[in-house]
Amino acid sequence: MAIQTIRCRLVLIGSIALFLMVQSCGETNEVTVETPKSPQEEAKNLYTLNCASCHGMDGKLGGSGSKDLTKSTLSDAEIVNVITNGKNNMPAMKDAIQDPEKIKNVAEFVKTLRK
Ligand code: HEC
Repeated sequence: MAIQTIRCRLVLIGSIALFLMVQSCGETNEVTVETPKSPQEEAKNLYTLNCASCHGMDGKLGGSGSKDLTKSTLSDAEIVNVITNGKNNMPAMKDAIQDPEKIKNVAEFVKTLRK
């Protein structure tokens, strides 16, 4: 009985130590974007990383002479084309976001910025 209790306590202490280790690991590995849980969240992360510097998170920043995305009237195909191949001062993003499916998801995210 006594030995069993000690063993049980050791397991408990071990679990707590492991939990704390995992916790502190999470803190040191700080990242700027959260781990995506869905294609939509991933698209938002890709936008944050590749687009927000010029367009802003709300699409209105207008950096480098970029268009206000909340007022954009482009079709899905046109948005995909601008993202993939760039336009004037906007660089092509096909190297940064190589997966056409992801580019499509980013285009979907861009449309959510419209009012
Ligand atoms: C270096 C700055 C820069 C970055 C980074 C950038 N853009 Fe642009 N973007 C521009 C500029 C400048 C234009 C205007 C191009 C033109 O029509 O002359 C533009 C235009 C657009 C348009 C067309 C808007 C319209 O109605 O004509 C879309 C859509 C767009 N950007 C989406 C994105 C997305 C999505 C990303 C990230 C994957 C991105 N941009 C990254 C500068 C940038």
